[in-house]
Amino acid sequence: MTGGKNFVLKGNICYSEDVHSLKTVEQGYLICQDGKSAGVYKELPVQFADYPLEDFGDMLIVPGLVDLHIHAPQFAFRGLGMDLELLDWLNTNTFPEEAKYADLEYAKKAYGIFAESMKKSATTRACIFGTIHRPATELLMDLMEETGLKTMIGKVNMDRNSPDYLREQGAEESEQETLLWLKETGSKYENVKPILTPRFIPSCTDDLMERLGRLQKEQGLPVQSHLSENQGEVKWVKELCPASEFYGDAYDQFGLFGENGKTVMAHCVSSSEEEIELIKNRGVYVAHCPQSNTNLSSGIAPVRTYLDRKLNVGLGTDVAGGSGESIFRAMADAIQVSKLRWRLTDESLKPLTVEEAFYLGTLGGGSFFGMVGSFLKDYEFDALVLDDSGLPHPQELNLRERLERFIYLSDDRHLKGKYTGGNRIF
Ligand code: GUN
Ligand code: FE
Repeated sequence: MTGGKNFVLKGNICYSEDVHSLKTVEQGYLICQDGKSAGVYKELPVQFADYPLEDFGDMLIVPGLVDLHIHAPQFAFRGLGMDLELLDWLNTNTFPEEAKYADLEYAKKAYGIFAESMKKSATTRACIFGTIHRPATELLMDLMEETGLKTMIGKVNMDRNSPDYLREQGAEESEQETLLWLKETGSKYENVKPILTPRFIPSCTDDLMERLGRLQKEQGLPVQSHLSENQGEVKWVKELCPASEFYGDAYDQFGLFGENGKTVMAHCVSSSEEEIELIKNRGVYVAHCPQSNTNLSSGIAPVRTYLDRKLNVGLGTDVAGGSGESIFRAMADAIQVSKLRWRLTDESLKPLTVEEAFYLGTLGGGSFFGMVGSFLKDYEFDALVLDDSGLPHPQELNLRERLERFIYLSDDRHLKGKYTGGNRIF
C-alpha cells in the first residue's frame, strides 16, 4: 500500500447519490481527507490546494464495488459443474470441494489464488464465506488482510444434512469452534472482521441456531446466510421447521434475522409476501446474485419490488454458483435478468436501469459496511480508476454512456487504480 490519507484525484468522476441518481463530473477533483471523501468539486477548493494531486487524465473514477456474497472455497471450481440445481449441486460439487479445506496445504494454495484474484478485481469490500474449518478460515482471513480489501469473513456452521466429511459433530462442537475462532480473530485485523455464518437452515439444527443466536446477541456480530434461493429448498425448510411460518421466520425465531445486528441474506428469489415484510422491518440486506440464480436455474429475484419497497439491496457474485468475481458483470447480469423477468413473468415490474444496477453494486451493498459506496462527503474513500482507452469508440460519449459501456465490456485489465479507506491497493 502506498500514499498518505490526504490527497486529490483528478479525472472523470461518477458516483451514486441515491438509487436513481448517478452524479457525473467531468474533469473533477475528488478529495481524500483522513481516508474519507471530502467531496467532489469542479474546481479545486483552496483549502485542498496543498494536497498531493494525481491526475488520471481522461480516465473514469468511481467508488469501489461491493460483493455482498461470495464463497472463497468455491473459487477453485468456478465455471465447473454448472448443470445442476442447488441441492444436487451442493451435494455433488460443493461439499466434496469444501471438505478439502481440512487440509491446510490445499487451503493455502486455493485461498492464495482467491486472495490474489480479489485484490486484482474491482471489488473493494466483500462478505465472504469460508468453510467449517477454523484453521483454514483463519488462514483465509490472514491472506485477505494482506490484500488491503475490507472484508467480513465467516467460519461456516453446519451440523446436519451433509456428509460426515463436512459436518461438525454436534451443536456444542460447532459453538465451541466458533467461540475460539472469534476469540482468535475478533480484534486481530485492521481490514478483516468476523461475521457469523450459519450456512442455511437445512445445515443447522435448532440447538445450533439457538446457540448462535445467543452468541450473536452477546457479541453484537453481523450475520450472513442464504434465504429462499430455490423452490426445493423453501419446501425442505418448511418440512424441517414446521413451527416457522416462512423461511425467514426460521432465522428470526433464533434472533438471527437482523433484530440485533446487521444481517445479509443471499438470493431471496422466492420470498413470500410475509418474508419480504419481515426483511423490510428488520432492515435485513438482500444480496442479489443474478449469475448464480441463472447458473443454478434458481429463478429471478424481484429486485424491482425490493427497490420499490425500499429494502436494503446489494449485489453478490455467489462464486461458485456465480462463475466469476466481477461485480461489474453482476450489474450487467442484474439488468439482463430483470428484463427477462419483466418480459416473461410480470410486465408490471420494469427492468433495472444502469443507474440502479450501479447503485446496487456500490452504495446499495456498501451501506452494509457503514458510510461506503459513494463519494458524498464523509464516505470512506474506496475508489477505482477505470481506463476505457482500450475499449475504443469512434463517437462522442458522455460519462454515463462510458460507464454503461464499462459495465458491459470491461475486465480487470481496464482497472488502473484501486483504493480502500484512502489506502492505495494498486
Ligand atoms: N445454500 C447453502 N449453501 C449454499 C452455497 O454454497 N451456495 C449457494 N448458492 N447456496 C447455498
Ligand atoms: Fe451462496
